[in-house]
Amino acid sequence: MAVEQKSGLTASLLVFVSLIFFLPLSHGDPIHDLLRSNGLPAGLLPKAVKSYTLQENGRLEVFLDRPCLAKFENRVYFDSVVKANLTYGELAGLEGFSQEELFLWLPVKDIVVDDPSSGIILFDIGVAHKQLSLSLFEDPPDCEPKGQEILSFTSGVLGIGGRKQKGFEVQR
Ligand SMILES: *[C@@H]1O[C@H](CO)[C@@H](O)[C@H](O)[C@H]1NC(C)=O
Repeated sequence: MAVEQKSGLTASLLVFVSLIFFLPLSHGDPIHDLLRSNGLPAGLLPKAVKSYTLQENGRLEVFLDRPCLAKFENRVYFDSVVKANLTYGELAGLEGFSQEELFLWLPVKDIVVDDPSSGIILFDIGVAHKQLSLSLFEDPPDCEPKGQEILSFTSGVLGIGGRKQKGFEVQR
């Protein structure tokens, strides 16, 4: 009896120690290394990434502390979860990543770096393809927690989320 209890305690201690050692691996920088090693600039995602999951088929889910706003050339809005299919030089079928264009928030659908030596990164925002300078995205940006306002504004403009008549009301 006493021996069993003791080994139980040892096991818990082991779990605890492993957690301390392995938890930091799921925080912070690895996502930016992942982007770089896939031919994409690290600055596509903000500093405040909590964790991410990547499946074998390239399905990427990135978890932020909260929705937030960053500024490159235009302002970019990140949902608290950003999803995409990751292949070399491309984030396809993005969700949770919008860019401001002439006061509208448009979801960015694809991000492509065809040729890094061109210094160009391509944003597919549905209505247009935008060519931006890669150098804007070198470093992960700070991201301001201004989420909620933009979120309901975006939903309103795009008519997602059902209640269209309330669409343009900015909630706090
Ligand atoms: C992303 O990957 C999923 C699962 O592999 C697939 O069903 C989906 O069509 C892909 N989306 C795009 C835009 O490539």
